[in-house]
Amino acid sequence: MAPSVRRKPIIAGNWKMNGLQKSKSEVTKLAKRMEKLPTRACDVLICPPATIIATLSQTAKGTQIAIGAQDCHQNDSGAHTGDLSAAMVKEAGAKWIIVGHSERRTDHGETDKVVAAKAIAALGQKCGAIVCVGETLKERKAKDTLKVISRQVRNSLPKEGATAKNLILAYEPVWAIGTGLTPTLDQIREVHAFIRKKLITALGDEGAKVRILYGGSVKPANASDILGVEDVDGALVGGASLKASDFWGIIKTYA
Ligand code: PGA
Repeated sequence: MAPSVRRKPIIAGNWKMNGLQKSKSEVTKLAKRMEKLPTRACDVLICPPATIIATLSQTAKGTQIAIGAQDCHQNDSGAHTGDLSAAMVKEAGAKWIIVGHSERRTDHGETDKVVAAKAIAALGQKCGAIVCVGETLKERKAKDTLKVISRQVRNSLPKEGATAKNLILAYEPVWAIGTGLTPTLDQIREVHAFIRKKLITALGDEGAKVRILYGGSVKPANASDILGVEDVDGALVGGASLKASDFWGIIKTYA
């Protein structure tokens, strides 16, 4: 039996390819709403497009909001046109880097091995890595969900240097992302408990402390149900993180 531990929840926003300099007003609005949030309630992170990481980091200075990145290249530097290294996004202000989001896996053919290398690159820069896993609808229908998650967790995690302070796992069923569909609470519970076991196998006691986020169509209306599920330590939120009012509607579940 794993020792029972308190994990500080984290609500992370993934803005995807949305946001310009003027979007800093959403950060200001959110920070204002969060003034009354006890600091121990939860961590809050926004991962905007790389072009505004620096701006938003300035805007978020002195607030309870941290800024992160949506991706990084696995190499430190070199001939990789259009890519950004972990050191670059860190210098811009990123504290955490999302790696292996299903849109990266699909749009850019990222394999588990590449995702693990990106996570290692993030940790190498003393950024946290948010490693995403999740099954497609076809895989769920074929009852392969746990098999897929098992493979992704085993092969996408950084092999060394991961601790509960620098690693977060995000379970995002591909079919729930941006669709308005969500798994049942029992389905979420099953996968999160399974990931917890895998984390303990991989990292020992530290695995009991690593936060596991649920992602996929989280909104103010379903947040409290989803965040109440055992082993759900927060959420990775896409669409509903773009507007401060919606994002706050999710964060305040922990207030
Ligand atoms: P969604 O996206 O909340 O818009 O479904 C979640 C994600 O892709 O991280």
